[in-house]
Amino acid sequence: MGACYGARTAVASGRNQPLHGDARDRRICDPMTAPKYHLTSYGCQMNKLDSELVESKLRQRGYQAAESEAAASVVLINTCSVRQHAEDRVWSKLGKLRIRKRTEPQLVVGVLGCMAQEHKRYLLSRMPHVDLVVGPSAFGDIDDTVEQARQKNAQLAAEREPARTKHEVHGAGVVSVDQGVSGDTIVRDVKVRPHRSQAFVSVMRGCNMPCTYCIVPTTRGDEVSRPIADLVAECERLCGDGVTEITLLGQTVNAYGRDLTGQDATLARLLRALHAIPSLRRLAFITSHPNFLNQELIDALAELPKVARYLHLPAQSGSNAVLKAMRRGYTTERYLARIEQLRAKAPDIELHSDFIVGYPGETAADFDQTVAFLQRVGFAQSYVFKYSPRPGTLAADLPDDVPEPEKERRNAVLLAAQEELTAGFNRAMVGKVVEVLIEGDSKVDGRFSGRTAHHRLVHFECSDRDRIGTYAPVLVTEALAHSCLGTLQRDDAAQAGRQDPAEAHA
Ligand code: 5AD
Ligand code: SF4
Repeated sequence: MGACYGARTAVASGRNQPLHGDARDRRICDPMTAPKYHLTSYGCQMNKLDSELVESKLRQRGYQAAESEAAASVVLINTCSVRQHAEDRVWSKLGKLRIRKRTEPQLVVGVLGCMAQEHKRYLLSRMPHVDLVVGPSAFGDIDDTVEQARQKNAQLAAEREPARTKHEVHGAGVVSVDQGVSGDTIVRDVKVRPHRSQAFVSVMRGCNMPCTYCIVPTTRGDEVSRPIADLVAECERLCGDGVTEITLLGQTVNAYGRDLTGQDATLARLLRALHAIPSLRRLAFITSHPNFLNQELIDALAELPKVARYLHLPAQSGSNAVLKAMRRGYTTERYLARIEQLRAKAPDIELHSDFIVGYPGETAADFDQTVAFLQRVGFAQSYVFKYSPRPGTLAADLPDDVPEPEKERRNAVLLAAQEELTAGFNRAMVGKVVEVLIEGDSKVDGRFSGRTAHHRLVHFECSDRDRIGTYAPVLVTEALAHSCLGTLQRDDAAQAGRQDPAEAHA
């Protein structure tokens, strides 16, 4: 699903934790002795959400976020397996923790998420300093698992001869959990959300698609959708708690509901149900598969004004030969026909894509077709990845025959083509007033940043921190390569000069 980004790290907020459900009984009450955790998260938005759920659960148990990893007695890593690079970063982190554990035998080290699922055996047998290995489908009782490992470690450390601590310290007997209580049962703690007004909600877990390069069906298992009523209840709770922008998550989110036989559950119906929540202002969903972009969903996009005006619809390649080899299940012609249908009904929706370059057998001519396809569709944004063989996938049996320098070249060429398109979209915004949801400090010095309904990033001067999480009109004054600069307007400017996105696209 979605694209994978860098690591996100949970840091201490120093706020009080609420109590929920059965966690009340087992809660560690003394803040002086409360264990301190540190969680680093790699990977996609689904992983970010999972990390939030894990943190909620630990805080409900009485754990506190540590100021830094070095200050934590429980170090957790939520991992991603989608490409080798993401895994390498985790292996290197685990190597450092192994050294630390030689002198801190009580330290609890936990590997969570996709790598836990994928490398369970290896972690159990070859990484004795890892105390817990928890796959993505077993986060619902993560607090019990962590607590169990913590108590075992404390016991072992107490029993251990002092001299032994000079040697390799083995974990407390790894608690491995790969099938358990789903994290979606966790009551969420508002204080660990990155932004109070924004929330991710997982509508389905797993993936049943046959894409040859992808490890996700292995790490995340079969598709399991959550019933509409549960999702409406969760979103109502979140909105009651200050959320105004919800992003629905699923590996193939627009296939939502196909496993819920007899319930007539589709993404379009779900969007309509959530759209009715009065205080909700924006509703997005990622990531969609081209094969499930149907008229029902297009109608919903056209008719529901709160639905975000972008569609993440990864094409992966612009060559029919490569698409066939990848078993994507569509041709470029079919992709184009679907988006024409979409644009006929909802012309303001912008398209985002993912592309893989250097897939086994991809020729220079195939790649040229991908560049031409990207330009023809006119994507507003694309993530470009170099093919990375994932053991256990069908494509891993094929020779990885595009040399690394050629993969690099294709990556750079496709990115440059996308940047040119993105810059055009940004330039078209100059002089327009757009409504942004203010997210907080921007990377451009001293400014705030916010996102438009098209997911465009705008930086602007503002010093009033109370405005973070609110919506504001901004006049776009300058286009940068990946974002825009603007000036904050009085609230009534939003209505007067609202950007016509179709115009911006043209
Ligand atoms: N190699 C490179 N990129 C990959 N992706 C998925 N699997 C691989 C792989 N083996 C990319 C796809 C997907 C995005 C999340 O990651 O483009 O859409
Ligand atoms: Fe997300 Fe796991 Fe896939 Fe990475 S491998 S993108 S974390 S589902």
